[in-house]
Amino acid sequence: MPYAAITGWGAAMPPAILSNADLSTFLDTSDEWIATRTGMRERRISHVSGTELAILASRRALACAGLDPADVELIVFGSCSNDEQVPNTASGVQFALGAKRAGAMDVNTACTSFLYGLSTANAMIRTGVVRNAVVIGVEIIAQYIDWDNRNVAVLFGDGCGAVVVQASDREEGVLADQLGCIADARQTLRIRGMGAAYVNQDVTIGNTLIDFDGQEVFKRAVHGMAQASAAAMAKCGVTVEDIDLVVPHQANLRIIEAVAARAGIPMEKVMLTVERYANMSSATVPVALAAALDEGRVKPGSLILMPAFGAGLTYCAHVVRWGERVTPISVCPDELPPPQKTALEMVNAIRARKTANAARSEAALSQAQFADAVKTSPH
Ligand code: ACO
Repeated sequence: MPYAAITGWGAAMPPAILSNADLSTFLDTSDEWIATRTGMRERRISHVSGTELAILASRRALACAGLDPADVELIVFGSCSNDEQVPNTASGVQFALGAKRAGAMDVNTACTSFLYGLSTANAMIRTGVVRNAVVIGVEIIAQYIDWDNRNVAVLFGDGCGAVVVQASDREEGVLADQLGCIADARQTLRIRGMGAAYVNQDVTIGNTLIDFDGQEVFKRAVHGMAQASAAAMAKCGVTVEDIDLVVPHQANLRIIEAVAARAGIPMEKVMLTVERYANMSSATVPVALAAALDEGRVKPGSLILMPAFGAGLTYCAHVVRWGERVTPISVCPDELPPPQKTALEMVNAIRARKTANAARSEAALSQAQFADAVKTSPH
């Protein structure tokens, strides 16, 4: 049975930076509060669609792997903020890449979507369904955020990362993965206003609402990521001493520190991007992985642990053995078009649209009434 080596990696980060100081211009918050509670200083706001970010990250990952798009057999698009539900977004990436032979599927397990997608690709390669895959983690969260709610607005950012996975005879790639879901707590983290439960209802709702219990999510995240990490390491017979690098989901620096402390892993072994990119949901792990490679933190044969947690409440951890190559075969020269607005200008435009939508709302619902009105699902 072949292994599934990670042979290419790439990120596509929107260039527009929203700082904590920018947030303070319209929220009652401070750099000090955000940095001490979350570890975040900046996040990116995208001026292009998630599909466009995914296309660029995929091109970079394919160039890095030296794989022709025409030879790609599977595209897995991990995201909870897809540009459209139908057609699926992976098909848009397949079309733009010219990867005509590739199957194309979307995976949504929220922040864990990239890693669940990696499990999917790994299983398909190991069982011979396909010989290679592009796995993407991408989010455009800025469009969904309640920018005028300081509990939510400071936490998230946009971004995208992708990897190429290819069949290999050597023992490399995902050695073990552990997936789980604490479904009885699924109400503790959700985005209201997205999905079939909300569209074409009697009450016209133009806005989304991110609804979560931060302290409950925090506790569950630490428990879930630590438990999954221990289980994945046990499955492939390695211990924390064997782990060279941890590339975790980056929802909060304090969550990462707590998971590392529970596992007995020193923070020097943990790759952090939360300060510069904040929480990009499914994009955090592939972006942090690409950054770790760029910064020379992945060595030939490195053993990497990748734990994550997201709405659902899904959790997982993957143990990956890196191959021999830690540099790209070639580099894709493409870049995103330059943004015409600053990040703060883009955010203020979203805020203005949301305000206008709320005003147009048939029943002129308040945020609290809105939350009640859309609680249609008993689950
Ligand atoms: N600026 C200033 N004050 C703020 C801000 C802000 N941006 N946000 C909240 N506060 C205030 C609150 O109003 C509260 O004030 P009060 O005591 O007067 O009521 C006070 O700060 C403390 O708020 P807490 O909610 O207790 O703050 P906490 O230390 O729990 O941090 C946080 C909140 C960062 C959300 C934390 O709970 C967390 O990281 N949770 C897990 C991550 C998470 O839920 N992310 C979203 C889900 S996505 C995912 O990736 C899983």
